Amino acid sequence: ATFLGVEQLDAGRLGVLGARVDELVHGAAASRCLEGRRVALLFLEPSTRTALSFEAAIDRLGGRTVRIDPESSSLVKDESLRDTLRVLAAQGTSGVVVRAPWVGTADVVARFFDGIVVNAGDGVGQHPTQALQDVCVLARTRGGRADAFGALEGCRVAIVGDLRHSRVARSVGRLLASVGAEVVGVAPREWSLDPKALGAVGVTDGIDDVLDEVDVFYMLRIQHERVGANERVDLSGYRARFQLSGHRLERARPDAVVLHPGPVNRGVELDDIVLSSPRMLDGLQYAYGVPTRVAVLEALAEEAGWGL
Ligand code: CP
Repeated sequence: ATFLGVEQLDAGRLGVLGARVDELVHGAAASRCLEGRRVALLFLEPSTRTALSFEAAIDRLGGRTVRIDPESSSLVKDESLRDTLRVLAAQGTSGVVVRAPWVGTADVVARFFDGIVVNAGDGVGQHPTQALQDVCVLARTRGGRADAFGALEGCRVAIVGDLRHSRVARSVGRLLASVGAEVVGVAPREWSLDPKALGAVGVTDGIDDVLDEVDVFYMLRIQHERVGANERVDLSGYRARFQLSGHRLERARPDAVVLHPGPVNRGVELDDIVLSSPRMLDGLQYAYGVPTRVAVLEALAEEAGWGL
């Protein structure tokens, strides 16, 4: 049982997960489907939100988290991922949540590990639980429920910033497109992306091009850790063309909302005015983090036949 990318979310699965997220957000109890089981968090890149929300979700489901720290594990002694997984399996680990800087890492884990596997971010590949969380937040905001995905049909969403190096953009854009949203990318030419990779109708190179046309601004952090030396852009020029400032938000549609997956670089992609605006939905995004991971882990446990 795996959750590796948003292409696994057909309408049926998305509906079930969204409905469960909605119940959990409204106080439903999580099942005990991980009772007596250990789930490894194999995070080979830093994380606050994703790692801690998976840890909280595993806890709520009755399981135990095993954290593998890349710096103090035998991965630093060049032990392979495959052999690391053999050790985990031998110790009775039932699931692996994996984040790594390389595209396809979660697929490799799924090939060599017999248990549930979740992609928590693979290089510039995908971040599917982030996408599920944020599409549920938008469904709730526009349709009143986390599974009101019909309310996103025709919704115009600009994904703004460092598209090329963003796994979040690839997952969020494609999932939004699959429920009928109209996605447009906005990025400096150096960090542009084939619109198809985003599920987008096009990519433009200035936020002012779409400012009064979109219902949602999905803002991205510059992924400095992935930007090559020959791809750097001037930061003041970036702010001038791509920052969503309070001044710009005033010129946007009055009901337009703002999302950001976090972490935010304050004063770069967003200014403090937007970050403290009621139109900024990051608080709701964080609130949906644990329920989304609970819903995903429950669904995978059921698929694995562990029972709820
Ligand atoms: N959005 C996200 O993946 O945040 P973390 O890197 O803190 O997990």
